[in-house]
Amino acid sequence: MGASVTVAGTVAVVVGGTSGLGRGIARGFAEDGAHAVVPTSRTESAVADTADEIRERGAESLERTCDVTDRASVEALCDAVVDKFGRVDVLVNSAGAIARSTIEEVTEAEWDHVTSVQFDGVYRTMQVFADAMDEGAIVNVSSISGRVANPEQIAYSAAKGGVDSLTRAAATELGPDIRVNAIRPGFFVTPQTADEYDEESRRVQIIEERSPLGRMGTPEELVGAAIYLASDAASYTTGEILTVDGGFCDATF
Ligand SMILES: NC(=O)c1ccc[n+]([C@@H]2O[C@H](COP(=O)([O-])OP(=O)(O)OC[C@H]3O[C@@H](n4cnc5c(N)ncnc54)[C@H](O)[C@@H]3O)[C@@H](O)[C@H]2O)c1
Repeated sequence: MGASVTVAGTVAVVVGGTSGLGRGIARGFAEDGAHAVVPTSRTESAVADTADEIRERGAESLERTCDVTDRASVEALCDAVVDKFGRVDVLVNSAGAIARSTIEEVTEAEWDHVTSVQFDGVYRTMQVFADAMDEGAIVNVSSISGRVANPEQIAYSAAKGGVDSLTRAAATELGPDIRVNAIRPGFFVTPQTADEYDEESRRVQIIEERSPLGRMGTPEELVGAAIYLASDAASYTTGEILTVDGGFCDATF
C-alpha cells in the first residue's frame, strides 16, 4: 500500500474506451505509465485506432471488441485480457447511450437501449471482471443526471441513479479486495454530446453562466479523478461518487 496517485504498472480495461471520456481516460492511463490499457467498444476500427494511441504512449494493449449488452462478449473480453496479461487490476465503465425523451415520450425501445448499456452493462461487466480480479479497483462513469434532474433524459437519468446505487452496493460486497467508486461528470464535449452542445445553444450558455468555472469540461479533465480512484492513493475510498462538474451542481447563484 502506498499513497501514490498513479496507475503505473497496472493492467486496465476501459469499456467504452474508444471515444469521448473513456478514450481520454485510456490515453491518460497509458501516459501515466500503465503496463497495459485495453480500450474496448463494439467497433473494430475504433478499438484498433485507440489501441494504437495506447501503444504510442508506451503501454501495451489488446484489440478486442465488446458489447456490454451481451454477456458472452463481456466474458470473452475478460478471458482475453487475463490470457494476455495474467490479471486485471482496474476496470473503468464508460460505455454510453442516450435518448432525449420525456417520461411521456420515451418508447420501450429507447428505454431498453439506454438502460441495457448504461445500467445493465455496468452490472454485467462488474460481475464478470470482479470474478477475475484478485484485487483492484472499479471506476464507473456515472453522471450528474443521476443526482439532479435533467429534462428530456428520463431513461438516462434513471440509469445513472442506478449506477450510483450499484456502485455503493457493489462496494459493500466486493471489499476489502476490490474498491468500487464512480465519477459523476457534469458537461463535457464528446461525440455523445456534440450535437446538443454546439456553442450557440442556450443550454451551453446556461452551463457557462451557472458553472463557477464558466465552461464545459474536456475529456482530459476527467483523467485525474479516474487515476486517483484507481490508484493506491484512494486505498481507503470505496462506494464514493466523485463529482467532476466545474461546480455546476452546487452553484447557488
Ligand atoms: N459527455 C458528457 O458530458 C457526459 C457527462 C456525464 C456522463 N457521461 C457518461 O460518460 C460515459 C461516456 O460518454 P461519452 O460522452 O464519452 O460518450 P461517447 O459516445 O463519446 O462514448 C461512448 C463509448 O461507449 C461505447 N459503447 C456504446 N454502446 C456500447 C456497448 N453496447 N458496448 C460497449 N461499448 C459501447 C461507444 O462505442 C463509445 O466508445 C457515458 O456513460 C456517459 O453517459 C458523459
